[in-house]
Amino acid sequence: MTTEGTHYGVTQIAQLFPSLKRIKDKSLREKVALVWNEAITTGCGGKGWTLDELREVKFTLLAGDIDMKFVEHLNSCALQCMAIADVLKRTFRCSIPIQRDYLIAGALLADVGKPLEYDKDASGKVVQGKFGQQVRHPFSGVALAFKHGIPGEVMHIIATHSHEGDKMERSIESIIFHHADFVDFDIAKLLGKRAAKKVTG
Ligand SMILES: [Fe+2]
Repeated sequence: MTTEGTHYGVTQIAQLFPSLKRIKDKSLREKVALVWNEAITTGCGGKGWTLDELREVKFTLLAGDIDMKFVEHLNSCALQCMAIADVLKRTFRCSIPIQRDYLIAGALLADVGKPLEYDKDASGKVVQGKFGQQVRHPFSGVALAFKHGIPGEVMHIIATHSHEGDKMERSIESIIFHHADFVDFDIAKLLGKRAAKKVTG
């Protein structure tokens, strides 16, 4: 099946990612939705994903068998980022310049390349596709974001959020997202390891 001709607007993308509505700048909000629309409808080796299929995608293919979904992870990160920004603003005596709209947009777009990175094998299992092996999601995410006029500050978060960004100086917003991302990832890995131990006894 293909999702050709389908278009998901702000309302539908916000059903997947409610934090989209927390972006104050309307034009940025719309651009984030456009980027997600393209990722969903052109991903999965060009076949596109339905929203239900996307909701079923696991958080990460690297963490083993745990009940945590990709969409839930993105929502978790966006909420964590806003909470971290609130705490930092309240507690640091020197003021920390955090661009909240960029932080939320970056949190929602950091993994937008994953629908392109992932494909399905003959049995319908979600795997890293050929394109995903060639171009991991931070790169495809930036490519998609650039196409839709997403600001450099947000593309920086997408580009540097994963280990590919370890050699760069991350912006404040990117530092916040990077850590939120790994809070989820490291916990998922640990849970995956525990689950594997239970299975093998
Ligand atoms: Fe990522």
